[in-house]
Amino acid sequence: MKRHKIAWLPGDGIGGEVLEAARIVLDKLNLNAEYIDGDIGWEFWRKEGDPFPQRTIDLLKGVDAAMFGAITSKPVKAAESELSPELKGKGLIYRSPIVRMRQLFDLYICFRPCKAYEGNPLNYKENIDLAVFRENTEDLYAGVEFNTVPDELAKTLSKLSKPFAPFQSLSPDQYAISVKINTRKSSERIVRAAFEFAKKFRRKKVTVVHKANVVRATDGMFLEVAREVAKEYPDIQLDDANIDAMCMWLLKNPYNYDVLVAPNLYGDIISDLCAQMVGGLGFGCSGNIGDKLAVFEPTHGSAPKYAGQYKVNPIATILAAKMMLEWLGETEKAEVLEKAVKEVVKEGKVRTYDMGGQSKTLDMAHAVAAKL
Ligand code: IPM
Ligand code: MG
Repeated sequence: MKRHKIAWLPGDGIGGEVLEAARIVLDKLNLNAEYIDGDIGWEFWRKEGDPFPQRTIDLLKGVDAAMFGAITSKPVKAAESELSPELKGKGLIYRSPIVRMRQLFDLYICFRPCKAYEGNPLNYKENIDLAVFRENTEDLYAGVEFNTVPDELAKTLSKLSKPFAPFQSLSPDQYAISVKINTRKSSERIVRAAFEFAKKFRRKKVTVVHKANVVRATDGMFLEVAREVAKEYPDIQLDDANIDAMCMWLLKNPYNYDVLVAPNLYGDIISDLCAQMVGGLGFGCSGNIGDKLAVFEPTHGSAPKYAGQYKVNPIATILAAKMMLEWLGETEKAEVLEKAVKEVVKEGKVRTYDMGGQSKTLDMAHAVAAKL
């Protein structure tokens, strides 16, 4: 097996701590890899006006995969106020680096497996095993937004939206617009990724999550595309549900669901819901996957209040590392790693605070490493 090139992007807050934990485990597995540190996050926004500097983009162009910790994101005005004095007032706008990374590298699949490991005191119910496929590049994340609505657009909208008239009477700074953009191409490829996964792992059902009864153009198209793609997989059942009902039903009976696929924002929402059912922040892991590059991360944020305490649960990041091993073709190591996580969770001797224990981030990593 060749030597893998891996970009190592700790980011903000506890990002570095959970990546340190993942590295302990990867080193114990003797992964043949070169790890290259990359700058990303709040510190670079403040100092350079860019949380995702060009040098990090260039780094990502030359690697096989990346591990990413977490990023602190703040609303536009709060972000501007923290810029170093010489950068203030230049019209710099903070945009989430992870969202940019997903778009820039066309990491169109966001895969979030949510599995209840036996013995985890945080499981909502036992044996939950849900796989969420979230479209990762467009939808309400497309970045087409207007804080102050341009005149031309306001005029067009007031013609189009007769029953909803505020555009005619409001001044442009009294409303804002965020545009939801979905393409057939991206809808098709995420749905196909969900079905391919279902086929490979003999899963029975793919549920499309949408709001096509109200958001008819975009979600309607997503659902229509899903129905077309599903015809290529006659052995897998196609099911669909509105996002609101889906949240209710998932809680009521998670066993009715198997593989879920959704446009970006609904995928963001249901993946948190599903993660919570299998242990919450400490267990939700995520792969941002494109054709050439994939970036793996815990689903949780940078938890600034815990930064420096080595307190948070690194299992989410360790499971993200397991996903990275699969992407790199290191399936045997991935299996061994998941088995080690399962054993540690089942034994229950080492537990971080979220699991009701007192163990620290790196204790958990060493406990997993000891099983390898
Ligand atoms: C996630 C996060 C991000 C998102 C944030 C940090 C921009 O919630 O990865 O789910 O909304 O995609
Ligand atoms: Mg999220």
